[in-house]
Amino acid sequence: MANGTPEIEYYDHELNIRRVIEQSDLQSMDQALNICDLSSLERKLRLWQKLIPRIKPYYAVKCNNIPVLVKFLADLGTGFDCASKNELKLVLGLGVSPERIIFAHPSRPASHLEYAKEHEVVNGTVDNEFAIYQLTKHFPNSNIIVRFKSESTKALYLLGEKYGCDSEADAPDLMLLSKALGLKVTGTSFHVGSACSEVEAYDRAVEKAENIFRFGELIGHKMDLLDVGGGFPGKNDELFEELAAAVNTSVQNRFPDERVQVIGEPGRFFVEAAYTLICKIHAKREVRNKNGKLEKNMYFLNDGMYGHFAAMFYRPEELTPVLYLDDVESRPKFKSVIWGPSCDSQDKILDDCLLPNLNCGDLLGFRNMGAYTVPIASPFNGFDVPVTRFFAKRP
Ligand SMILES: Cc1ncc(COP(=O)(O)O)c(C=O)c1O
Repeated sequence: MANGTPEIEYYDHELNIRRVIEQSDLQSMDQALNICDLSSLERKLRLWQKLIPRIKPYYAVKCNNIPVLVKFLADLGTGFDCASKNELKLVLGLGVSPERIIFAHPSRPASHLEYAKEHEVVNGTVDNEFAIYQLTKHFPNSNIIVRFKSESTKALYLLGEKYGCDSEADAPDLMLLSKALGLKVTGTSFHVGSACSEVEAYDRAVEKAENIFRFGELIGHKMDLLDVGGGFPGKNDELFEELAAAVNTSVQNRFPDERVQVIGEPGRFFVEAAYTLICKIHAKREVRNKNGKLEKNMYFLNDGMYGHFAAMFYRPEELTPVLYLDDVESRPKFKSVIWGPSCDSQDKILDDCLLPNLNCGDLLGFRNMGAYTVPIASPFNGFDVPVTRFFAKRP
């Protein structure tokens, strides 16, 4: 690590997780280890560019804001969705030009708007009239991107209760108000919800966007940006292919004019599959009934729900621990509970899983841990958050 910047370690063919574990001296470390394969981000970008070339990805920094990762994407030429002054600072500080950034937060503090103005990050989302009045004072020359609500029926995390105006009842009023105040509306955006698996969700939203464009143009706004938001899966490329095909068709049919710039704000898509988290069992309890029969094994890991598992609260079924033992299949399995390290009884990672009889020092790996993990993790109760080693394929 030089000047606090982690080094990137290079591999030749494929990243070998077992080998990294063997070389990492995990037994002498208290923290869990994150293994991040940055080249997986590049593979995702190539897949995106192949399947939806018209839509430029603006990576949603909130999903994982580790500078080395954000820089890796910046060097590959992506754009960025920033939600706060600090995210703007991070991305601008890497030399990314302001046109490659959208300030995609509809409720922004005045000081953050002032910062965006100072650094000429002109594109920003808005979903209510207060935000429009606020712009007249703090950033009148910005480009307003009207964010509307259009949620999928099959997404894991919905955002519509908090953000997005009604496309029919509110969006026209917001565009009229902007016009009356001399502000520019230049586009529209939506977010179908994170980890979306409904192929029709994007077309429903793009249709609403088309109507918003028509109305905006009718009243004299120069509409030239469509932002299809995030929601794309990070660990299921087949599903991504289906969603991408649907988005492609929808955008081509409804926005055939190539002068309309189309962007997306993928977060999870890029980073979810890039991380494998290796946890160590640092304590164990056997729970027995009155007759001394084993009811379950309880294992305590060195990361938990206040760390990198925080966002897994809603979907523990997606967590399948990988055991790095040679004879896993042949060993008898026992009912097991996996706890995080803190004293809080809510800090339970998996309630009911079948595992062989494990011991303190044994390792459990969790794949696909790159999205909404690193920036959320806290050292609650004094347990350090995991350390990360970054890898990339040798150029
Ligand atoms: C405005 C906005 N854009 C993009 C994203 C990224 O979404 P995802 O990780 O589903 O791609 C989010 C996630 O919350 C968001 O709020």
